[in-house]
Amino acid sequence: MNNHNHCISLFTGNLYPSKELFLKLENAFLTANINDIIEVVSLKENIEIELRGWTKLKGHLYLGRENLGAQFSYKIQKISKNNFESSPSWGKELKGIETSNPKLKDLNLSHEILAKAPNSNGLLTRGMITQEGTPSYDFALSHKELVWSEPVSVLYEEGKNLQWNATTDIAWNEIPKLNPIIEKAICQIMTYLVENEFSALYIPGKFISQINPYYMEIPLFLSSLMNDEARHIEVFTKRAHAFGAGFQY
Ligand SMILES: [Fe+2]
Repeated sequence: MNNHNHCISLFTGNLYPSKELFLKLENAFLTANINDIIEVVSLKENIEIELRGWTKLKGHLYLGRENLGAQFSYKIQKISKNNFESSPSWGKELKGIETSNPKLKDLNLSHEILAKAPNSNGLLTRGMITQEGTPSYDFALSHKELVWSEPVSVLYEEGKNLQWNATTDIAWNEIPKLNPIIEKAICQIMTYLVENEFSALYIPGKFISQINPYYMEIPLFLSSLMNDEARHIEVFTKRAHAFGAGFQY
């Protein structure tokens, strides 16, 4: 062990590898500095596999186990940055999506958004800090020019504000009763529309999971678009079934 690194000891007794144990570890690492060594002193002889797994997942370094007689010492060195106090985002504003800070409305919101999402940012969006060991995803759409459009933040806000409820916003009992041939013709049109709206729903759905979350506004906006399309499917279905004729061909 390198004596320059402050060593914190966590006494975990008979604790199995569990949420409780990992929460204790998590807390110890949050307050430790980079390169500090955290020692888990346990009565358990066989928690090495779980500690190794956790260490790898968190991007730290597992140093090994020592037999202390009745207890076992497992040492892990902090490698990944995750100290709240030194977080580089502290006090910075999020650029892009509408936040509750009205000052942002006056800024050129797209200005600080990179043309290409950083490599291996995992499922992180702008401003989050990548840690060692963050899983890497291969997002097909990782360039701004492939996904971005202004004013996406405004469109997203509108998409939320203009939502409606197909069950309660339409006076279903005021629809005039038509002769059966006309009613069936309307139901035929509704049938086409439902088919069409499914493609409107599935196409953005197909793209969402390929868009790098660095460009957060785009998947968020597309999901509000999908919300619209779901409503369209619902309302045309309800109309087709309003008088019992139902879907046609
Ligand atoms: Fe639609």
